[in-house]
Amino acid sequence: MSEQEKLTQTNINWYPGHMAKAKRLMLEDMKIIDVVVELVDARIPFSSKNPDIDSIAGGKSRVILLNKADMADAAATTLWKEYYEKLGYTVAAINARSGSGLRAVTDAIQTACREKIERDRARGIQNRPLRAMIVGIPNVGKSTFINSFAGKAVAKTGNKPGVTKGKQWIRLNKSVELLDTPGILWPKIESQLVARRIAWIGSINDLILITTELAELLLVFIRDRYPGMLSGHYGIEESTEGCEHPGAELLSRVAVRRGCLRKGGELDLERAANIVTEEFRNVKIGQISLEVPGDIPDYLKK
Ligand code: G4P
Repeated sequence: MSEQEKLTQTNINWYPGHMAKAKRLMLEDMKIIDVVVELVDARIPFSSKNPDIDSIAGGKSRVILLNKADMADAAATTLWKEYYEKLGYTVAAINARSGSGLRAVTDAIQTACREKIERDRARGIQNRPLRAMIVGIPNVGKSTFINSFAGKAVAKTGNKPGVTKGKQWIRLNKSVELLDTPGILWPKIESQLVARRIAWIGSINDLILITTELAELLLVFIRDRYPGMLSGHYGIEESTEGCEHPGAELLSRVAVRRGCLRKGGELDLERAANIVTEEFRNVKIGQISLEVPGDIPDYLKK
């Protein structure tokens, strides 16, 4: 199947009702915030980002947080930071689970909003906190991020006159407040390539993708991008020269090393595939990024 082949409508537009509602809520919230803080998964900073947020965010200041940086390859994360900075975003790499990098977030928010701060100052408005909204596709760590921040926050501020009823703000410090409900985007799955990367990190259960095939492709990817990692972790030979199906061959080698056998001695490739997938997702194989800016085909960047 070619990379450019489009997925079926069902795969692209799941939960259309939820999405329409989420978009409506986000558009409403845009009226009361200054800056959109977009969380992406540092292992797939392109594939986990939905460009539709550009039209939803309008002209708001923008921050991108490369979350789960602890799971990603630091060199790739640096490339992504540079990539998004060139596009005009303020970017920080963070680990929302441990809270590392969270201080950089307030700095990023202030940097992204510096024009607004200047404008306010020129008009004599001082000390008005910047208001931020977190957005991102499911599973990128929005709730974890908000909880980490809320835990450290000085106070939760309640409803305020003039603010949409029911909105809660988490006051991070005297200059930044965070809306406590995140905006939920949906992955933009326009290609097999994006679908596969999202499936590898385990964000989509709705996509019917074959576990063994995904694991085979993942093994080939890791072997090619991170030479020595598979032999180090699984103790398998990485070269598949002369093999017609390198992925299947690598998966069989994992099955042999991990004793994945069915009754009768046949290799249990499903079990081996589950092991590979699970160990990748738990960062047991290593810190792996599934894409770098140079991997993204132009037809997806449009
Ligand atoms: P969401 O609101 O965007 O849908 O994501 P959520 O916060 O629920 O996070 C999804 C999963 O990602 C959670 O794991 C969470 O702990 C994990 N996570 C979030 N941020 C980070 C990070 O920076 N680093 C790492 N390593 N993990 C992160 P879970 O397995 O679903 O739950 P649990 O293990 O925390 O109980």
